[in-house]
Amino acid sequence: MIERRPRILVVAGTRPEAIKVAPLVLELRRYEAQVETLLVSTGQHREMLTQALSAFDLEPDLNLDIMQHGQTLAEVTSRALSGLDRLIAETKPDIVLAQGDTTTTFTAALAVFYRGIPFGHVEAGLRTPTIRNPFPEEFNRRAATLVTDLHFAPTQWAVDNLLAERVDPAAIFRTGNTGVDAVLSIAGKVSHDWFPEHKGRVVTLTTHRRENWGEPMRQIAIAARELLDEFPDLLLVVPMHLNPQVRATLSSVLGDHARARLIEPPEYGRFIPLMRRSALILSDSGGVQEEAPAFGLPVLVLRETTERPEGVEAGTAKLVGTDRALIFTEAKRLLEDERAYAAMAHAISPYGDGRASQRIRHIVLGRLGIETPAVAEVLA
Ligand code: UD1
Ligand code: UDP
Repeated sequence: MIERRPRILVVAGTRPEAIKVAPLVLELRRYEAQVETLLVSTGQHREMLTQALSAFDLEPDLNLDIMQHGQTLAEVTSRALSGLDRLIAETKPDIVLAQGDTTTTFTAALAVFYRGIPFGHVEAGLRTPTIRNPFPEEFNRRAATLVTDLHFAPTQWAVDNLLAERVDPAAIFRTGNTGVDAVLSIAGKVSHDWFPEHKGRVVTLTTHRRENWGEPMRQIAIAARELLDEFPDLLLVVPMHLNPQVRATLSSVLGDHARARLIEPPEYGRFIPLMRRSALILSDSGGVQEEAPAFGLPVLVLRETTERPEGVEAGTAKLVGTDRALIFTEAKRLLEDERAYAAMAHAISPYGDGRASQRIRHIVLGRLGIETPAVAEVLA
């Protein structure tokens, strides 16, 4: 009988997962002679996933293509779960990895658990105090933890969260966040001259969270519009998530303003230069919250809770929620008070050192009996 190489499945489904697993897939594939790495997409996102992977010259090896407009969370869950179950039965992986807190992450963890295969959770241990916020991500990541064999926690705070839940300390590895690997690998390579004709400042807004759909998102958009009216030099750039609910709200409030640019979401290699062109970011995104501090960019977080307190503690991010008046006041303060701005605008990377994928590769391959070089540097 011919023995095959051990096989790793890396599962992703949405834009942020694509960005954060890409460096890991590339790292694992450096050891292709010893191990086979298959990138599996549930297809929870379609255009946005393809676009995110393209920055890394990657494509899914297998794609369940489950996205449908207007489907419920239960429909996403059941279609991803049954599709992944079938795929696991067919490909017989030795270990499965998934990242983050989406429905793809949750269903990957559950499908793998049902099949009795080891599961590694990348970006493990992020927590908010309430299971309903962010919705449904807080549930997804807590559920994934229950069935995870290898927990790859980005920061000490995440490690401590897992320890507080009595996760076996021997199964927890502090690796840094693979999102930092992604941003560092791409930021050095890309450039794009955003809005050369505009001599004033740019404020970039991204919003998509389910708990912000409807009225909270309308309040966010109104606050952004008020900022445009307050500061005549501002250009507001809104890369609109492809979710139709989100687009409807943003377009109805901001669509007719002469200095609002409602644009299609730029691919990752263009989005990073857009962040760097910006004076300020308003966002409810998890990934954007992690990236902004790396560029010394103040970010006002449009959420009531965050599972990423490190940026807030470091002073580059501030939680402002979705209250129109508070968003306006905080943004105005930063845009007109140089000292307040300077206090937030310092570059730090509390989320990792760019070597998370290498640490995870060492641990995962070690678990498969393949010895590879360890990362010498210890995370600060
Ligand atoms: C999902 C994740 C969220 C993550 C976000 C990142 C869940 C429940 N939510 O939210 O945790 O922060 O992705 O962006 O897992 N659409 C397209 N094309 C695309 C992508 C989306 O048309 O490439 C539209 C479709 O109509 C789709 C809808 O957006 O049905 C919503 O997508 P879905 O994956 O359900 O949730 P998100 O709100 O994107
Ligand atoms: N991003 C992008 N283009 C955009 C908006 C975001 O490439 O128009 C990137 C961003 O740099 C980050 C990730 O997508 O790495 C965040 O995705 P999103 O906000 O959709 O999800 P979250 O991180 O909130 O789960």
